[in-house]
Amino acid sequence: NGTPTAGRRTNNEPLQRFTEAKKHMGIIYNDLESYVNDLFTFYKELGDTSKLVPQQQMDEVRRFQESIRTIKEMFGRDKMKVVFFGRTSNGKSTVINAMLHSKILPQGMGHTTSCFLQVEGGSENEKSFIVEGSDRKRPISELEKIGDALSLSGGDDPRLTNSAIHDTLVSIFYPKSSSKLLQNEVVLVDSPGVDLKPEYDTWIDKHCLDADLFVLVCNSESTLTQAEKSFFSRVSKKLSKPNVFILNNRWDASAGDAQAEKVRKQHEKRFQEFLEELNVCKKEEEAKKRIFFISAREVLEKRLRLSQAYQLDGWAIREQNFNEFERNFEQCISRSAIRTKFEAHEHRARDILRDMRENVENVSQLALREKQRLELDFKLKHKEFQDCRNNFIRLEESFFNERRKVREEVHLKVSADFYE
Ligand code: GTP
Ligand code: MG
Repeated sequence: NGTPTAGRRTNNEPLQRFTEAKKHMGIIYNDLESYVNDLFTFYKELGDTSKLVPQQQMDEVRRFQESIRTIKEMFGRDKMKVVFFGRTSNGKSTVINAMLHSKILPQGMGHTTSCFLQVEGGSENEKSFIVEGSDRKRPISELEKIGDALSLSGGDDPRLTNSAIHDTLVSIFYPKSSSKLLQNEVVLVDSPGVDLKPEYDTWIDKHCLDADLFVLVCNSESTLTQAEKSFFSRVSKKLSKPNVFILNNRWDASAGDAQAEKVRKQHEKRFQEFLEELNVCKKEEEAKKRIFFISAREVLEKRLRLSQAYQLDGWAIREQNFNEFERNFEQCISRSAIRTKFEAHEHRARDILRDMRENVENVSQLALREKQRLELDFKLKHKEFQDCRNNFIRLEESFFNERRKVREEVHLKVSADFYE
C-alpha cells in the first residue's frame, strides 16, 4: 500500500507490518481457496452432465485445494524468530527479560540456562511451559527447576546426555498482552552459553534455520572469545547473510572509568571487523546500526519499576542505546521475516493462479473442440435432413401429378361412358 497514511503507520510500528502482511496473505489465500472450490464444483457438475473434464485436470484442482490448505496452516504458524547467543553469564536471559518487561527467564550468576528456552505469546493468564517431547503443560513457577524437569522427562533414557539436554527445547507461553513483542508474534529464544562447547551444527540445524535474526550478547568487560567467533562463523556459513546484532552488555561496568570511551572505540572497531568477516555488513555505517553498548540489568530493573533500581553513572545513555537497539531490531526482524516467510507463499499463490488458468484453458479448449465437432455433426445431419426433405417434396409432387392424371383419365372415361 503506497498511501502516505499506511507508510507513516508502518514506520511507527514496524512489528505490525508482519501481522498485517500475515492478514493480507490470509485474505489472498482465502480468495484463492474459494476460486479453487468454485472451480472444483463447476468441474464436478460438468463432469456429471458431460464428459468434458479430463481426470488429469480434475486431479490437479484437488491438488490445488490440498496445497492451499497446507500453506494456510503453515503461515498461520509463522512467527518472527530471534535467537540469543553468547557466553555463559554475559546476560542473554537478562536482555530477553528486559525486552519483555518481565522477569520470565531464570537469570543469575554462574551457569543458569541449561537448554533452549523459547518464549512466545499465549492466551490471557497463560503462564506455562512445555518440555520438548512431552504434552504436559507445567506452571511457569517450575521453570527455575528446569534442569530437574529435564532429567525427569528424560528418565532412564541413556541418550539424554548433557549435550542432548542442552539441545532440548522448552516452549514458554506468556500472555500476549504482556508485551509488544509477544503481541506481534515475536518468538524469543534463549540458549545455553556457547562456551559449553556444544555441537554447533546440531544447535544451528535444530534451532536456527528458521531464525530471522541473531543477537550476540557479549560481555563488555572482556573481549570476544574464540567460542563466540566460531559459533557465528558456522551460522554465517549455514545461513546466507544472517541478520546479526551485537550487544556489549554490562556496559555499566564502564561507569566512572576514564578509559571508557577508548574501550568503547576498541570494541566497536573489533565488532565491525567481525561483522564484515561474517559478511553480515559491508559498510561501517551499516555495522554501527548493529552494535550497541547497554546494561540489560539497568533497563530491566527500571522497567520492573524496582524502587531501588540499579543505575550507575551514565545510565541514561545506556538506556537510550538499548531503546535504539530495540527500534533497529524491530525494523530488521519484521523486514526479514516478511521477506523470507511470506515472499515464498506469495510466489506459490502466483504459481497456483497460473496453473489454474492453464487448467481452465485446457478444459475450455477441449470444450471448444467438442462444440466444433457437434456443430459439424449438426451441419451434416442438417444437410441429410434437407436432402431427405427435398426428396420427399419431389415425391409428393410426383404423387400429386400422378393423382391428377388418374383423376383426369377417370373423369374422361366416366364422361365418355355417360354420353355413350
Ligand atoms: P547463562 O544462562 O548461564 O548462559 O547466562 P546468561 O547469559 O543468561 O546471563 P544472565 O542473564 O543469567 O545474567 C548473569 C548475571 O549477570 C545475573 O546475575 C545478572 O543479573 C547479571 N547481569 C546481566 N546483565 C547485566 C548488566 O548489564 N550489568 C550487570 N552489572 N550485571 C548484569
Ligand atoms: Mg541464561
